[in-house]
Amino acid sequence: MTGEEALKLVDAVLRSTVLEQGLNDIQSVVFLESWVGRTYAEIADKLGYDCDYVKQVGSQLWRSLSQVIGEEVSKKNIQAILHRYQQSQTSTQDWGEAVDVSRFYGRQTELQTLSTWIGKEHCRFVGIFGLGGIGKTTLSVKLARQIQSQFEYVIWRSLQQALPLNTLLGEILPILMGSEATIDSSINLLMKQLQEKRCLLVLDNVESILQSGNRGGEYQRGFEAYQQLFERICDELHQSCLIVTGREKPSKIAVRSGENLPVRSLCLSGLSVIEGEQILIAKGLNTAPQHQNLVNYFGGNPLALTICRNRYSRYILWRSTSILGTRNYSF
Ligand SMILES: Nc1ncnc2c1ncn2[C@@H]1O[C@H](COP(=O)(O)OP(=O)(O)OP(=O)(O)O)[C@@H](O)[C@H]1O
Ligand SMILES: [Mg+2]
Repeated sequence: MTGEEALKLVDAVLRSTVLEQGLNDIQSVVFLESWVGRTYAEIADKLGYDCDYVKQVGSQLWRSLSQVIGEEVSKKNIQAILHRYQQSQTSTQDWGEAVDVSRFYGRQTELQTLSTWIGKEHCRFVGIFGLGGIGKTTLSVKLARQIQSQFEYVIWRSLQQALPLNTLLGEILPILMGSEATIDSSINLLMKQLQEKRCLLVLDNVESILQSGNRGGEYQRGFEAYQQLFERICDELHQSCLIVTGREKPSKIAVRSGENLPVRSLCLSGLSVIEGEQILIAKGLNTAPQHQNLVNYFGGNPLALTICRNRYSRYILWRSTSILGTRNYSF
């Protein structure tokens, strides 16, 4: 992609938002110069502007692009991201209720592991499991956004409303089959699609279709067909991948998972102190030594850190800091 082509793409991307505002002159110049690798100081020098001003124009531009594209765009990664974005535009995607992940911190190791499993090692079933609020949904969206260009079809769905399999297939098959879709919404037909096309399916909140409190991960009555679907996706040869997230692991998945097998599971733990602190900073809490205690107290659980501005959380926060011996926390 040349700089001019990239400029056109960025302009179109920004015009597609609710603001419908493309690039202005100064943004265009800063973009083109950044594209060829010039530093802000060099650009400022060339244009006769103040360096801080050029930096501000650049930062604002990357921020706006991050919001639309769903990945953190910077001067350093703009080429790679736009290339990926351009490729993804040729695939069919349906993101359902997928959350916005433009403010996403850390998880680089997990993203690297998961994308290797799916991209290089062609895993057919990948599970992301962990406690409530630990970040499974967010990570699944971030991952799918990052690897979307490797797939002809990307479909993201939440099972939170305990969606019967027939209803789900009735939504997915027309997306995969277009005008060839019929009233047949069988697992057989889906498997055929997964063989013929490279599809990425993400099903979030699998615990909603499992019996609650049942550690064996047995399915709720009426949802047993999902077991058959998952097992066939794990066992049969096809070129697609299903990512499932949940607080509990569905039965029979553990026995199929393995380091060198096409079925893998990742047990997600909390964010590191540095990553967790970024959530607190984004919430408007200034950096303070007590934050490390807070992140540790909440086990790096991003949901707990995200809600720490509520009155109740302030109480927890006060308790946590006093328990941990840092009583002078101010909020
Ligand atoms: N890496 C991250 N960076 C920034 N915020 C995050 C990150 N991971 C999670 N969050 C935030 O933490 C909150 C909880 O995350 P998420 O909904 O992904 O958790 P979950 O594991 O899916 O929870 P549940 O089990 O309830 O479905 C969300 O508000 C999300 O925006
Ligand atoms: Mg979730």
